[in-house]
Amino acid sequence: MVTPDAADTAAGLRAWLQLLAASGVDQLIDDQPQPWASRPAPQPKAPSGAGTTSPRPAPPARGRLVDDPAVASARNLASAAADLPALLDAIAGFTLCPLQRTATQVCIADGDPRSPFMLVGEAPGAEEDREGKPFVGPSGRLLDRMLAAAGWPRPTTWITNTVYWRPPGNREPAAQELAMCLPFLERQIELIRPKVVLFVGGIAARALLDQRDGVTKLRGRRFTYQLPDGTAIPARVMFHPAYLLRRPHLKGLAWRDLLATVALLEETRAEEPA
Ligand code: URA
Repeated sequence: MVTPDAADTAAGLRAWLQLLAASGVDQLIDDQPQPWASRPAPQPKAPSGAGTTSPRPAPPARGRLVDDPAVASARNLASAAADLPALLDAIAGFTLCPLQRTATQVCIADGDPRSPFMLVGEAPGAEEDREGKPFVGPSGRLLDRMLAAAGWPRPTTWITNTVYWRPPGNREPAAQELAMCLPFLERQIELIRPKVVLFVGGIAARALLDQRDGVTKLRGRRFTYQLPDGTAIPARVMFHPAYLLRRPHLKGLAWRDLLATVALLEETRAEEPA
């Protein structure tokens, strides 16, 4: 077994670093260990029947942690942004997200802001963090191929994420991080006004739809995302391409979801006045 003591020799150090990289720890953040996790997400209280197994924490639901000052600040900044460039500036200038301590740079969106087709993923990974653009790593390359094959190559879509800074080691964004990025994402959708939204993965779907189910139950269905003015935007959910890379047998279902999303886009186009 490789242990930290093995790092005393060059070969041991290499093995230790390989083990860390394989566990998702692929980034040097400081010379000294730091308590990066000192702001844990709130944990649910244990049930009163002592000795029983605690239930799995409920996944974050839309709009939680509304009284967090960072969430309030994000809300104010987002609603003050009169247009997309102002919103992108507001996100880039936001300083209260804990993910900024470990991310290299902000990574907001890519594509055509006038596109009727908006995709919302989860969070930047290592390559996205380096380039400052969403979905440019292995899962992004798969997504690009799927989009091109479906007739909507990446530059014709608008792609963003639920959080704008890379979570360390590619962990899932915490409820607090999601909650403080949510006002920016909601305002993005409001300003872009896409005709159809595709949620890429369960985290994105749960962040924006009033749903708690996992992606397996959410995919294959049609949802509605409502803008503050009441406009209903049709939405669908697809397996995340990172998940598809690990479970290629599910690619057929994802392809079906993407084609169903394209069919929704065609429907909305057909409904437009000539
Ligand atoms: N996964 C995501 O959800 N978003 C990215 O930008 C990259 C990987």
